[in-house]
Amino acid sequence: MPSPSLAEADALRVAPALTPAASPEQAPEVWPLTARTVDNRLHVGGVAMDDLVRACGTALYVVDEADFRHRAAQWRQSGADRVHYASKAFLCAEMVRWVDSEGLHLDVCSGGELELAVANGFDPARIVFHGNNKSPDELAAAVAHRVGVVVVDCHEEIDRLARAAARTGRVQDVYVRITPGVAAETHAYMATGGDDVKFGFPVREGHAERAVLAVASHASLRLAGVHCHIGSQITATEGLALAAERVGLFVADMARRHAVTVDEIDLGGGAGIPYVPGDLRLDPAEFTAALRTGLARVLPPGTVRIAVEPGRSMIGSAGVTLYRVGAVKDGLRRRFVSVDGGMSDALRPSLYEARYTAWTAGRTPRGTPVHSVIVGRHCESGDVVVPDIALPSDITPGDLLAVPATGAYHHAMASNYNAQPRPAVVAVSDGQARLMVRRESPADLRRRDAHGEPVQLSRV
Ligand code: LLP
Repeated sequence: MPSPSLAEADALRVAPALTPAASPEQAPEVWPLTARTVDNRLHVGGVAMDDLVRACGTALYVVDEADFRHRAAQWRQSGADRVHYASKAFLCAEMVRWVDSEGLHLDVCSGGELELAVANGFDPARIVFHGNNKSPDELAAAVAHRVGVVVVDCHEEIDRLARAAARTGRVQDVYVRITPGVAAETHAYMATGGDDVKFGFPVREGHAERAVLAVASHASLRLAGVHCHIGSQITATEGLALAAERVGLFVADMARRHAVTVDEIDLGGGAGIPYVPGDLRLDPAEFTAALRTGLARVLPPGTVRIAVEPGRSMIGSAGVTLYRVGAVKDGLRRRFVSVDGGMSDALRPSLYEARYTAWTAGRTPRGTPVHSVIVGRHCESGDVVVPDIALPSDITPGDLLAVPATGAYHHAMASNYNAQPRPAVVAVSDGQARLMVRRESPADLRRRDAHGEPVQLSRV
């Protein structure tokens, strides 16, 4: 078949759905709780974002402390018996203190997150330690720190952890992570409960049962619970209820067949948040109610305590990223608005084709909407910060753009691609701003350069 002409190809092209640019007044669901337009300027936490940028520069991550604390309170009141904040969404020393002050527990998934928490005074007994390939050193560190619960994800970990605990004479509490065969309705990269995932032990074909029996066979381990997390950015409750039901069935089965009982079920995180106007939020109470509904189908009420591990739902909506527009270029099909950040500070659009909205921070635009794309300054076409958005036509170089819903998995997944220093993170509250993470400098980047220093080999 001959290839279509450019005109024919254009006619065949499906027009992308444009996200409306939306102010806090137009789409409060995507903005932090305290975001407002005051005298045509965007304010968060009582601080004018253009004032903040004069002090801290761009690109800049901003966190609304009141928004985080509000969500934390909602989770505490959600009906779950224990709430762990999933630190992978965003962690730094100040965040550790916020989580602590809210009385939450903490989910860490690496030795690095564990050290950050412990070094900043978080009680290890309130930490649950995840990961599908924890090293012997990480497991030994968990035991040495007296971490509350280690979630075991493979047989190697069960053996290593049992040895590490036995060496100290302690009994380590563990959860066994199981996969219930439930494919969550979300991006494939964020679905973790189906039949072909690297996480946990499948319930099917006896894998999870063998893991439970392996844990029970070690005197230095105590089976404190069963863990399951079916995925992230979930807004429908059916999959959560089904997963809870299957976990409950598994627990009942283990008690009946092996007299192995657990009193806690950790059903993970994954509650979705709105990113673009009109998106749904899965509220903490709805999330927990779905889990209870599923469990109630198979277990008598009160048999087990429920733990949850929200990350995004606690910190995602608190975050806004501020960028300065550097160039506006009309392409053949849409307008390219280039900002001074990109995939190094906002990986989600390129990784998951995630959508966002944006609004000007220092003034209110008046132009008619134009099909635009907000792009970064990195050397590839996939470097998109906000895909296909109807941006006002009067956006010009020098304007400040604010992208909401960037509190989770933005700073946490930031990189130094193209030797781009990572932005600072600033907390705002009651008209005050406080630095959570300082901006990386070119000197920070140079510090790791070893200039070909010789490596001392230890030959076998
Ligand atoms: N618990 C476990 C075991 C997890 O693996 C995760 C997320 C959570 C809790 C927290 O999930 P949340 O409530 O934040 O959805 N980088 C992706 C998300 C990957 C999440 C990985 N695990 C993103 O940018 O959307």
